Amino acid sequence: MQVLVIGSGGREHAICHALSKSNKVDKLFCLPGNAGIAEIAECVSIGVMEADKIVAFLNSHKQINMTVVAPDDPLAMGLVDILESHGHRAFGPSKAAALIEASKAFSKSLMKKYNIPTAAYEEFTDVAKATDYIVKCDYPLVIKADGLALGKGVIICENVDEAKLALQDMMVAGKFSDAGSKVIIEEFLYGQEVSILCFVDGKTIVPMVSSQDHKRALDGDGGLNTGGMGTFSPSRIYTDVMASQVYTDIIIPSMEAMNSEDRKFKGVLYLGLMLTDKGIKVLEYNARFGDPETQVVLPRLKTDLYDIFDAVIDERLHEINFEWSDDATVCVVLASGGYPESYEKGEVITIGEIDDDITLYHAGTAIVGGKLVTNGGRVIGVTASGVNIDEARAKAYKAACNVKFNKAHYRKDIGIKL
Ligand SMILES: Nc1ncnc2c1ncn2[C@@H]1O[C@H](COP(=O)(O)OP(=O)(O)OP(=O)(O)O)[C@@H](O)[C@H]1O
Ligand SMILES: [Mg+2]
Repeated sequence: MQVLVIGSGGREHAICHALSKSNKVDKLFCLPGNAGIAEIAECVSIGVMEADKIVAFLNSHKQINMTVVAPDDPLAMGLVDILESHGHRAFGPSKAAALIEASKAFSKSLMKKYNIPTAAYEEFTDVAKATDYIVKCDYPLVIKADGLALGKGVIICENVDEAKLALQDMMVAGKFSDAGSKVIIEEFLYGQEVSILCFVDGKTIVPMVSSQDHKRALDGDGGLNTGGMGTFSPSRIYTDVMASQVYTDIIIPSMEAMNSEDRKFKGVLYLGLMLTDKGIKVLEYNARFGDPETQVVLPRLKTDLYDIFDAVIDERLHEINFEWSDDATVCVVLASGGYPESYEKGEVITIGEIDDDITLYHAGTAIVGGKLVTNGGRVIGVTASGVNIDEARAKAYKAACNVKFNKAHYRKDIGIKL
């Protein structure tokens, strides 16, 4: 079989890596890919939003049996529907189903309607009404742009002045363009966050092993929010009792709610959970594999990923026998100095001795003039496994020291938080 993966980050490298281990997959393509992905897949220089070009590419490569759409923007645009309408098999939710991530107003109203536990909220399109409302709220308060905003559309406000500024930025100045014309204002939840990714075909939903992300740029959860600076799996705090309760109270109802709304979800449904002292609540849904959660979850999957994708597309996920490794995994993201704000590209990367059991998942890398260089904010995710998180951590950090580029920055505390 031949498979095309759409995307270019560490998540797509981890998906390609897992697919490359399938004895059913003879050849991988990735569009556009990166320098690390190029070692295991043929990279195609077409952008992820260039639907016409992607269709033309698939039409001229009839031997490709499946296209995996990994990032949020093409899913929200409806790339899966477009590919299917041209007769190509695609893994990922339809445009209608991807709305669960693309509109926070939609996902919050879905949770309210189907009694899925989440933070209390109000929705506004009128800045004057929103401003009246924030004066009466308790703080901290969370203000979210409705649409996709690269993980930057969520502002945690400590007081009314900050909330007014956030509303101005989103609703008046158009900081997130259309994504911010509608906002969600919700109560701040206290607790630890756990990510649960699920395979779902509309009839069956199978949670993967748990993971935890570190969103802030600096050690001790300081600095700005980023796309994610590192992850570990499993979570140290997500017990089996919690998992079965979440399955019954959140995971199954989420799939059924989408079916009831005539938005059957097929693909990977990502649940961002907050473990609060008033129970477990959904912070958000994503309609795709998380990045960098995928880099610690897929290495633990022993079942053939191609078989799973194939079963999801054909709605026979119940036939798959899932097996996971008991090993723990840790991924430390090496970022460009200055990320998530401005940073340089084109810094030469040197990779010293790396043990065989370490995987370097490339994100923003490219080959320029025959040299491996940085090409994005998050550059490489160094992933290790071990009998427990501490062992995996030690291995990942030992390897991280041997990947060098000018102004490289990484957190030293990935995997420490409880
Ligand atoms: N109600 C809340 N209470 C406390 N923290 C919150 C709340 N909502 C969001 N956050 C924090 O903000 C982060 C981002 O929020 P959310 O997941 O809704 O946004 P997103 O932009 O869709 O993120 P992602 O890039 O992970 O998809 C959360 O991971 C959490 O740390
Ligand atoms: Mg999200």
